[in-house]
Amino acid sequence: MKTLVVYYTKSGWTEKIAQEIGKLTKGELRKIVEIKSRNGILGFIRSGFEAVRGALSELRPMDFNLSNYDQVFLGTPVWAGSPTPAVNSFIAEADFKGKKVVLFLIMGGERYERPLSLLKEKIRAKGGKVAGSFAISSSRLSEEQLKEEVKRNLKIEGEI
Ligand SMILES: Cc1cc2nc3c(=O)[nH]c(=O)nc-3n(C[C@H](O)[C@H](O)[C@H](O)COP(=O)(O)O)c2cc1C
Repeated sequence: MKTLVVYYTKSGWTEKIAQEIGKLTKGELRKIVEIKSRNGILGFIRSGFEAVRGALSELRPMDFNLSNYDQVFLGTPVWAGSPTPAVNSFIAEADFKGKKVVLFLIMGGERYERPLSLLKEKIRAKGGKVAGSFAISSSRLSEEQLKEEVKRNLKIEGEI
Protein backbone atom coordinates (compact mmCIF):
# COMPACT_ATOMS: atom_id res chain seq x y z
CA MET A 1 0.00 0.00 0.00
CA LYS A 2 1.46 3.37 -1.01
CA THR A 3 0.87 6.16 1.50
CA LEU A 4 0.98 9.93 1.11
CA VAL A 5 1.11 12.32 4.06
CA VAL A 6 0.04 15.76 2.85
CA TYR A 7 -0.42 18.76 5.12
CA TYR A 8 -0.56 22.51 5.53
CA THR A 9 1.21 24.25 8.40
CA LYS A 10 1.73 27.85 9.41
CA SER A 11 3.75 27.61 12.59
CA GLY A 12 5.13 24.08 12.24
CA TRP A 13 3.06 21.82 14.53
CA THR A 14 1.19 20.07 11.75
CA GLU A 15 4.52 19.49 10.01
CA LYS A 16 6.00 17.82 13.10
CA ILE A 17 2.98 15.53 13.30
CA ALA A 18 3.07 14.81 9.57
CA GLN A 19 6.77 13.88 9.82
CA GLU A 20 6.01 11.45 12.63
CA ILE A 21 3.13 9.89 10.66
CA GLY A 22 5.44 9.61 7.64
CA LYS A 23 8.09 7.86 9.71
CA LEU A 24 5.67 5.38 11.30
CA THR A 25 3.67 4.55 8.15
CA LYS A 26 6.57 4.85 5.65
CA GLY A 27 4.50 7.45 3.85
CA GLU A 28 5.80 10.11 1.47
CA LEU A 29 5.54 13.67 2.80
CA ARG A 30 4.26 16.64 0.82
CA LYS A 31 3.61 20.14 2.12
CA ILE A 32 0.76 22.30 0.82
CA VAL A 33 2.16 25.81 0.33
CA GLU A 34 0.15 28.97 -0.31
CA ILE A 35 1.20 31.81 -2.56
CA LYS A 36 0.09 34.56 -0.20
CA SER A 37 1.67 35.54 3.10
CA ARG A 38 -0.21 35.39 6.41
CA ASN A 39 2.30 37.32 8.48
CA GLY A 40 1.49 39.80 11.21
CA ILE A 41 -1.62 40.51 13.21
CA LEU A 42 -3.59 41.48 10.09
CA GLY A 43 -2.62 38.18 8.49
CA PHE A 44 -3.83 36.36 11.60
CA ILE A 45 -7.20 38.14 11.62
CA ARG A 46 -7.67 37.71 7.89
CA SER A 47 -6.82 34.01 8.21
CA GLY A 48 -9.52 33.48 10.83
CA PHE A 49 -12.15 35.25 8.73
CA GLU A 50 -11.20 33.34 5.60
CA ALA A 51 -11.24 30.01 7.38
CA VAL A 52 -14.63 30.52 8.98
CA ARG A 53 -16.27 31.31 5.66
CA GLY A 54 -14.62 28.29 3.99
CA ALA A 55 -12.47 30.38 1.65
CA LEU A 56 -10.02 28.91 -0.85
CA SER A 57 -6.49 30.17 -1.40
CA GLU A 58 -4.07 29.96 -4.28
CA LEU A 59 -1.49 27.16 -3.89
CA ARG A 60 1.98 26.59 -5.23
CA PRO A 61 1.95 23.78 -7.79
CA MET A 62 2.59 20.37 -6.21
CA ASP A 63 4.91 17.73 -7.66
CA PHE A 64 2.86 14.59 -7.16
CA ASN A 65 -0.24 12.84 -8.40
CA LEU A 66 -2.78 11.47 -5.94
CA SER A 67 -3.52 8.64 -8.32
CA ASN A 68 -0.15 7.10 -7.37
CA TYR A 69 -1.27 6.50 -3.77
CA ASP A 70 -3.76 4.14 -2.12
CA GLN A 71 -3.96 5.94 1.18
CA VAL A 72 -3.74 9.63 2.02
CA PHE A 73 -3.18 11.21 5.43
CA LEU A 74 -4.39 14.81 5.17
CA GLY A 75 -3.51 17.27 7.92
CA THR A 76 -4.62 20.78 8.80
CA PRO A 77 -4.45 23.17 11.70
CA VAL A 78 -7.85 24.32 13.05
CA TRP A 79 -8.47 28.02 12.38
CA ALA A 80 -11.53 29.72 13.82
CA GLY A 81 -13.22 26.34 14.26
CA SER A 82 -12.64 25.52 10.59
CA PRO A 83 -10.18 23.83 8.24
CA THR A 84 -7.56 26.11 6.65
CA PRO A 85 -8.13 27.76 3.24
CA ALA A 86 -5.05 25.97 1.87
CA VAL A 87 -6.48 22.55 2.71
CA ASN A 88 -9.89 23.54 1.33
CA SER A 89 -8.15 24.40 -1.93
CA PHE A 90 -6.14 21.20 -1.96
CA ILE A 91 -9.34 19.16 -1.60
CA ALA A 92 -11.14 21.25 -4.22
CA GLU A 93 -8.35 20.56 -6.74
CA ALA A 94 -7.87 16.86 -5.92
CA ASP A 95 -9.57 13.71 -7.11
CA PHE A 96 -10.05 11.37 -4.15
CA LYS A 97 -11.99 8.72 -6.04
CA GLY A 98 -11.17 5.29 -4.56
CA LYS A 99 -8.75 6.77 -2.00
CA LYS A 100 -8.71 5.89 1.65
CA VAL A 101 -8.28 9.14 3.59
CA VAL A 102 -7.23 9.60 7.21
CA LEU A 103 -7.69 13.15 8.50
CA PHE A 104 -5.54 14.69 11.22
CA LEU A 105 -6.32 18.02 12.84
CA ILE A 106 -4.11 20.13 15.10
CA MET A 107 -5.52 22.83 17.33
CA GLY A 108 -4.46 25.08 20.17
CA GLY A 109 -7.64 24.34 22.12
CA GLU A 110 -9.74 21.19 22.37
CA ARG A 111 -12.56 21.56 19.81
CA TYR A 112 -12.32 19.86 16.43
CA GLU A 113 -15.81 18.47 15.69
CA ARG A 114 -16.88 21.25 13.30
CA PRO A 115 -13.74 21.31 11.12
CA LEU A 116 -13.68 17.50 11.12
CA SER A 117 -17.25 17.18 9.87
CA LEU A 118 -16.66 19.89 7.23
CA LEU A 119 -13.58 18.04 5.99
CA LYS A 120 -15.36 14.68 5.90
CA GLU A 121 -18.13 16.20 3.80
CA LYS A 122 -15.65 17.74 1.34
CA ILE A 123 -13.62 14.52 0.97
CA ARG A 124 -16.74 12.41 0.40
CA ALA A 125 -18.01 14.92 -2.15
CA LYS A 126 -14.75 14.35 -4.07
CA GLY A 127 -15.17 10.57 -4.02
CA GLY A 128 -12.86 9.72 -1.12
CA LYS A 129 -13.54 7.34 1.75
CA VAL A 130 -12.73 8.79 5.17
CA ALA A 131 -11.30 5.73 6.89
CA GLY A 132 -10.23 7.44 10.10
CA SER A 133 -9.37 10.66 11.83
CA PHE A 134 -7.66 12.04 14.88
CA ALA A 135 -7.07 15.42 16.47
CA ILE A 136 -4.18 16.59 18.61
CA SER A 137 -4.07 19.66 20.81
CA SER A 138 -0.64 21.23 20.36
CA SER A 139 -0.60 23.68 23.24
CA ARG A 140 -0.01 21.36 26.19
CA LEU A 141 2.42 18.88 24.61
CA SER A 142 6.17 18.65 24.54
CA GLU A 143 7.75 17.36 21.36
CA GLU A 144 8.20 13.92 22.92
CA GLN A 145 4.56 13.79 24.07
CA LEU A 146 3.44 14.87 20.63
CA LYS A 147 5.24 11.89 19.08
CA GLU A 148 3.63 9.57 21.63
CA GLU A 149 0.20 11.04 20.79
CA VAL A 150 0.76 10.37 17.09
CA LYS A 151 1.78 6.77 17.78
CA ARG A 152 -1.18 6.20 20.11
CA ASN A 153 -3.65 7.56 17.52
CA LEU A 154 -2.17 5.54 14.66
CA LYS A 155 -2.50 2.40 16.78
CA ILE A 156 -6.15 3.21 17.52
CA GLU A 157 -6.77 3.73 13.79
CA GLY A 158 -5.12 0.37 13.07
CA GLU A 159 -2.48 2.05 10.91
CA ILE A 160 0.56 0.67 12.74
C1 LIG B 1 -5.75 32.24 12.32
C2 LIG B 1 -5.72 31.21 13.41
C3 LIG B 1 -6.91 30.78 13.99
C4 LIG B 1 -6.92 29.78 14.97
N1 LIG B 1 -8.11 29.32 15.47
C5 LIG B 1 -8.13 28.29 16.36
C6 LIG B 1 -9.37 27.74 16.83
O1 LIG B 1 -10.45 28.15 16.44
N2 LIG B 1 -9.31 26.73 17.72
C7 LIG B 1 -8.12 26.21 18.19
O2 LIG B 1 -8.15 25.30 19.00
N3 LIG B 1 -6.94 26.70 17.76
C8 LIG B 1 -6.91 27.72 16.86
N4 LIG B 1 -5.71 28.20 16.39
C9 LIG B 1 -4.47 27.61 16.89
C10 LIG B 1 -3.88 26.59 15.91
O3 LIG B 1 -4.84 25.64 15.52
C11 LIG B 1 -2.73 25.86 16.57
O4 LIG B 1 -1.77 26.79 17.00
C12 LIG B 1 -2.08 24.84 15.64
O5 LIG B 1 -1.18 24.07 16.38
C13 LIG B 1 -1.34 25.52 14.50
O6 LIG B 1 -0.80 24.54 13.64
P1 LIG B 1 0.53 24.83 12.79
O7 LIG B 1 1.64 25.06 13.77
O8 LIG B 1 0.75 23.60 11.99
O9 LIG B 1 0.30 26.04 11.93
C14 LIG B 1 -5.69 29.21 15.42
C15 LIG B 1 -4.48 29.67 14.84
C16 LIG B 1 -4.50 30.63 13.85
C17 LIG B 1 -3.18 31.07 13.21
